[in-house]
Formats: sequence, structure tokens, C-alpha cells
Amino acid sequence: MTDTRHLIGLLLGTEEDWPTAFEKILHRLGPVPGADGSSYSFDIERITIEPFGLRDRPRYHLVIDRLAYWYYHPREWLKKIALMDGVYLLNSPFTFQSMEKHAAYCAMMRLGLNVPDTVLVPYKNPIDNARYAYTSARYNQSFDLDAIAERIGYPLFMKPYDGGAWRGVSRIRDPEELHAAYDASGEMLMHLQKAIDYDVFARSLSIGAETMVMRFQPDQPMHSRYAVDHSFLSPSVGNDVVTIGRLVNAFFRWEFNSCETLIRGEEVYPIDYANACPDVALTSLHYYFPWAIKALVKWSVFALVTGRQPKLDLETDRFFAIADDAGTSFPEKMAAYRRLADAYFESERYHDFCATRLPHLDEIVLDWVAGPDFDQLLIDTVRSVYPAHEHDQFIAHLRGLLSLWVKDETARLGGGS
Ligand SMILES: Nc1ncnc2c1ncn2[C@@H]1O[C@H](COP(=O)(O)OP(=O)(O)O)[C@@H](O)[C@H]1O
Ligand SMILES: [Mg+2]
Repeated sequence: MTDTRHLIGLLLGTEEDWPTAFEKILHRLGPVPGADGSSYSFDIERITIEPFGLRDRPRYHLVIDRLAYWYYHPREWLKKIALMDGVYLLNSPFTFQSMEKHAAYCAMMRLGLNVPDTVLVPYKNPIDNARYAYTSARYNQSFDLDAIAERIGYPLFMKPYDGGAWRGVSRIRDPEELHAAYDASGEMLMHLQKAIDYDVFARSLSIGAETMVMRFQPDQPMHSRYAVDHSFLSPSVGNDVVTIGRLVNAFFRWEFNSCETLIRGEEVYPIDYANACPDVALTSLHYYFPWAIKALVKWSVFALVTGRQPKLDLETDRFFAIADDAGTSFPEKMAAYRRLADAYFESERYHDFCATRLPHLDEIVLDWVAGPDFDQLLIDTVRSVYPAHEHDQFIAHLRGLLSLWVKDETARLGGGS
């Protein structure tokens, strides 16, 4: 019997919570059987940043990256190990070019999705570059901001083309607010986007072939933005939300991403779906945290054991062919996109793999989350995130939500209570 060892690298910023959970679960999982009696074992390391030769062989077989979107050195290392060594990456930096949300808007509009009307306006203040100053003085057209806003219609949103974490986002009701927001935008490049008056906000987190759709309450403080609600969408809307998340990921080759959609009646409007480092913090995901860690473990193990190959070519024509088929209705197109996305993520094979090779993972995670080890992680996380006078409150808050998960999961696995 052969034993193959794979090394998983974590490229991290400031987070401690999910990496610790990931390490513990993978450790408890132990070796995973291959197809032919062989066995696969996994080691994990947190990657350090150091000089590297471009011909050096990396030790890692798969890397989960949370850092390279912001820093060039790890980004260039990831590009090297992707191109030269075929290391499997969640996510590949070659997909960062479209991580500014503008490209994702364009792609999803091209595929016929209900992206609200959006216009990109030039910088309010010229960027600090002598050549740009010359170019803009000579070639930038003056334009009528009010006319653009009138055409879109109030209320509207002004927000950076490459936004994140609500930086620079404002809701605009009239020309006065429009000019104030544009004047304040400075060197940020801004979209104007029609505001959607929505009934409900769904945020979906996708990891490989799995998607969790969560009811999101953007006006709440961080710890209560995700509501625990299992039936807030009709089955058809829920299906569309999952399809949109998987579609955008399959289109851009993202493996680990979140997608925000606004829902009014039966209409789904995607507004934000390019997040290189989606939120997986214990303090915000709470009830959904065990799902996220389990999905990360399963997808990493699946990719390594089955030898899944990373793909950099986007093959956009396959998606555009569906979009351009005049004889197909929109629901049929959505179904066709879903088939393409599911094929890209090998959904069927993945679920079969999880059922046959990882049959005890659910129990392992349940046991861990219900035990003292996880409780310690919860306490440590709260201590590192909140000021001292709020520790007791947030420890109790998170314990309550996680014990609800333990109860629901116990019932789901047939342990009843
Ligand atoms: N077109 C829109 N209609 C209604 N609300 C919007 C719209 N665009 C943005 N918002 C609100 O503003 C928030 C931030 O905008 P978003 O595009 O998600 O930027 P960021 O990348 O900073 O998260 C959203 O979560 C939503 O509450
Ligand atoms: Mg957002």
C-alpha cells in the first residue's frame, strides 16, 4: 500500500481562528483512502515569506492564500509556483486582475444577469503623476455628472470600482449628495450604480463545489450581520443565488469567494461578487463557521487526492455561447450556466468523494466543535478581537450560536435530541 504525503500551505495575514480550526480538523481527519487501496496523508504549514529562486522547487502541493492580493512578494511567489510547479491554489493570483468587481459586473452583464445599471466615471482628482496630468488635461472629456445620475435615476450608489469593506460607498438621493460624494472621492475611481430597493440580502460563500447562502443584514454590527435563517428564500430564488455564485467562480476560476445579491420578489440582483479573501472569521460567521472550515478541508483534500488540475484559461466562449443563444430563455440559460459551473467544479465527483472517502468528517467536526478545544479557540478569538469589557458578552453570544449549530448538526446526523 502506498502512502502519499501532501503538504498544504497557508499564506496568512492576521487571522488565527480559521487556520487553527483548519489545522485541527485536518489533523483529526488523519489519512484518507485513495481509489486503489493507497492512502493519502496531509501536513500543514503556515508559509513564511523569504527569498526564493525562480527555479526552486516548492514543498507545497496546495496553498490557501489570504495575503497575496495585497502584497507583491507572496503574489509573485504564487505565480511562480502556479506556472512552474503546478501547485494548486485557492485562489490563483492570475485571477486577481478581475477581482476589482468592475470586471465581474461586465462579465455577469454579458451573461444576461440582472446587474443594476452601472457607469464608471473618471477620477475626480487627477492621480499624482506628471504624465497623467498631461494626458488628462489633453484628452479627458468634460462630462455632465448630473445627466449621468438622472439617466440612472435616484437613489443611486457611488462606490469604488474595486471596492471592499464598504470603503468609499455612499447612497445618493439627489444632485447635492452626488456632487458632495464625487468631490470627496478624490483619487478613487468610482462607479455610479442604480440602487435596488430590496426585500432581502443574500450573501453566499462558495468553497470549491459547495455554496452556503446566508441572510445578510448589512445595517447590523459585524457580529450580527449573518442571521441564522434556513428558509428565507423561495426554492427557485435560492437556486438562482447558488447558480450566480458558482457561475462567477467558474467563470473567473475562483475557488474561494463570496457573492452578494439583492432580492426583490423573484428577481435576483448581484452587486458584489469578487472577494479575494472572503470573510470566514469565527466572530462574523459564527453558526456557519464549522461549515466553512469543513468545506475548506474537503475541497483541499478532494483536489489533492484526485489530482485535480488547476486551470488558468478562462474559456469564456463556452459561457458566451449560452448567453448568445437567441432560442434559449433566461431560466434555461441559468440552468446551462449551472451545468457548466458544476462540471468545472466536478460537483458530482466531489460529493461522491466526500460520501465515500470522508464519511466520518461530519462526526469529527461535530465532536470537535462540541468539545473544549473549540471552546478555547472561541475564547482566544474573542479576546483578540474585542476590548476586555466586551469579552463576556461576545463569548456568551458565540457560545449560544455554536451550541445551536451543535444541536442542529446532531439532529441532522441522526443523533436526535
Ligand atoms: N446597487 C445597490 N443597491 C442597493 N444597495 C447597494 C447597492 N450597491 C451597494 N449597496 C449597499 O452598499 C454595500 C456596500 O456595497 P458593495 O458593492 O458590496 O461594496 P463593498 O465591496 O465595499 O462591500 C452593500 O452591502 C449594500 O448594502
Ligand atoms: Mg460588499
